[in-house]
Amino acid sequence: MTTPQLLFKNRVPGETAFLDVYRRGGGYAGLEKALKTMTPAEVTEEVKASGLRGRGGAGFPTGTKWSFFPAEAGGEKYLVANGDEMEPGTYKDRELLRADPHQLVEGMIIAAYAMQIPVGYVFVRFAYEECSRNLERAIDEAKEAGYLGGDILGTGFSFELHVHRSAGRYILGEETALLNGLEGRRPNPRSKPPFPAQAGLFGRPTNVNNVETLANVPHILTGGAEWFSGLARTKKGAGTKLFGLSGHLEKTPCVELPVGISLGELVETHGGGVRGGRRFKACLPGGASTPFLTRDHWDVAMDFDSLAEAKSRLGTGCVTVFDESTCMVAATLNLNRFFARESCGWCTPCRDGLPLVNWLLERIERGEGTAEDLEMLRDQVRNITGRSFCALAEGAMGPVEALLRLFGDELEDHVRKGRCPLKP
Ligand SMILES: Cc1cc2nc3c(=O)[nH]c(=O)nc-3n(C[C@H](O)[C@H](O)[C@H](O)COP(=O)(O)O)c2cc1C
Repeated sequence: MTTPQLLFKNRVPGETAFLDVYRRGGGYAGLEKALKTMTPAEVTEEVKASGLRGRGGAGFPTGTKWSFFPAEAGGEKYLVANGDEMEPGTYKDRELLRADPHQLVEGMIIAAYAMQIPVGYVFVRFAYEECSRNLERAIDEAKEAGYLGGDILGTGFSFELHVHRSAGRYILGEETALLNGLEGRRPNPRSKPPFPAQAGLFGRPTNVNNVETLANVPHILTGGAEWFSGLARTKKGAGTKLFGLSGHLEKTPCVELPVGISLGELVETHGGGVRGGRRFKACLPGGASTPFLTRDHWDVAMDFDSLAEAKSRLGTGCVTVFDESTCMVAATLNLNRFFARESCGWCTPCRDGLPLVNWLLERIERGEGTAEDLEMLRDQVRNITGRSFCALAEGAMGPVEALLRLFGDELEDHVRKGRCPLKP
């Protein structure tokens, strides 16, 4: 069964679809429909009915988020597309912006109309210069064609859009740290409440959505909420999703597939199976901050609710696979080193807790760990989870908690044997 391609419908390897190609594929029809035939509230309702959930990691229902936004408030209001994408293993927004940047531009104009926002920023990862340039060209083309700027399509609605290059830290992806970064401040997260919808960029109402989330919006407008929702393989999901594969697979493409496809089908059919005919040991189902899954989860549906039931998360939908030769302690240590380095240092559980977890995992991996170290590792997961200022440290604990839960024997083997049991 072939999946209808929405986000990748104009994708040609090595090429970027600009205005002509985008319009030939039906581009900007959703914008015309929204601006000319619907009220802002109707657009929000349509997005709500579609079941679209945020593609940036947390999976919050997009239409619901928009409905909280004070659309009627006068003065400055902002829309931000989060394209920071620095979580290891996650690269789907990059693929989207390389292939077809107008989708994000159109999605943002529609979102801005729904929330009556006059100014928007696309916050792009420092390393994604090609994506920033694609967006700048798409923005110029959209302005020239009357889709962006003042009095869009003669409807009286106006919207300005700018590209902002990130300074290049993982914490900048956290929405409130991102807003501080956009203001030119040090990117520590802000306390919530107030939420960005109340007091965001420069203290004004601001809506932050992921790049892929916003790029889905034109398709919802043209195809309708019911059609979009029905694209998912499971009732719990809606739409399609970009799944970026990486790790020990024969093939590592970024593919658009229905939400709710099984993990096994993703790995076998789209990843070509584990490389070299080896056995599948584990995977991170949605980026480096999502708890591991094992072969026991082969049939789990890749949707938000099913993965939560499996004690993990859909996260960004970018799946990293580990084969049977992987030492899961070493793999978890590698992930945790990243999180410890990227901590902004603002709160104690993250600043001091993550290096302590590193120290413990290093000792265990080297074969110097003790039973007390294992107990302290369990303690740290309990102490850090839910106690940090933002979700960075909690995300870092995802794989560590899963290591303890799913690979307890491997951890204990390291301690008992005084060496890594996977090394000869
Ligand atoms: C440490 C950290 C990094 C994050 N990085 C990103 C990111 O790169 N891109 C993104 O869209 N969301 C990221 N998020 C989630 C955002 O805070 C926010 O939930 C998201 O942009 C909302 O968009 P969505 O509802 O469309 O998913 C991150 C969160 C945390 C805690």
